[in-house]
Amino acid sequence: SEAEPASRPLAGKRVVITAGPTREAIDPVRYISNHSSGKMGYAIARAAERAGARVVLISGPVSLTAPDNVEVRPVQTASEMLAASEKAVAEGCDLFVATAAVADYRPENRAGDKIKKTSETMALPLVRNPDILATIAGREDAPFTVGFAAETSDVARYATDKMHRKKLNMIVANDVSVAGLGFNSDDNAVTVFWPEGQESIGPDSKQAIADRLVVLMAEQNDRA
Ligand code: CTP
Ligand code: CA
Repeated sequence: SEAEPASRPLAGKRVVITAGPTREAIDPVRYISNHSSGKMGYAIARAAERAGARVVLISGPVSLTAPDNVEVRPVQTASEMLAASEKAVAEGCDLFVATAAVADYRPENRAGDKIKKTSETMALPLVRNPDILATIAGREDAPFTVGFAAETSDVARYATDKMHRKKLNMIVANDVSVAGLGFNSDDNAVTVFWPEGQESIGPDSKQAIADRLVVLMAEQNDRA
């Protein structure tokens, strides 16, 4: 091949990525979700594939085209995303990258029939969803784990707290209070933290940021 080894920093590696929102059913026609577009996760999948990795992309509902040569496994709920992640990691995984905006809570019960409006107010009991990333990072055979943290204040502190609490190898923080960046945008600006260092990337396109992130992940994984 014409490619220099340094341009394929994930050659032979297996990468599993979660992306997009999850959808938690309330009844047959309604759900709880969020505005995640999935763009950052799909950009990382593309970058990792170009860097030589075999990529499995576990994706919530998004309107994006699958990157070339990436295996997309569609899911809806957080529970399905957890099951798909555990299966993909058990099949073999060197790096696990959690970009998904997982719903933190789901309705305690899914109504079998469409809920009718009766009273003036309504309460919907919610229960906490499993933490997919923390579950994978806590495994005996844990891969190199990368988390994402969208914060609106004290970005560095909240992000590094999450890295330590979830026992991650790396966390990518973005300040979603910056107008025009992050959720649903084509552009982003992030700061990456790992136990011994940090690097700020952007503002730039999500694909350019993803390409740099993949290089940093490969470097730190080689060191680990
Ligand atoms: N994450 C996950 N499963 C969840 C919640 C979060 O895998 N149930 C992952 C996200 O994909 C992301 C990281 O954990 O990589 C941080 O997500 P975030 O929502 O910022 O953190 P939480 O732990 O949910 O804390 P909070 O929302 O309260 O800030
Ligand atoms: Ca959350």
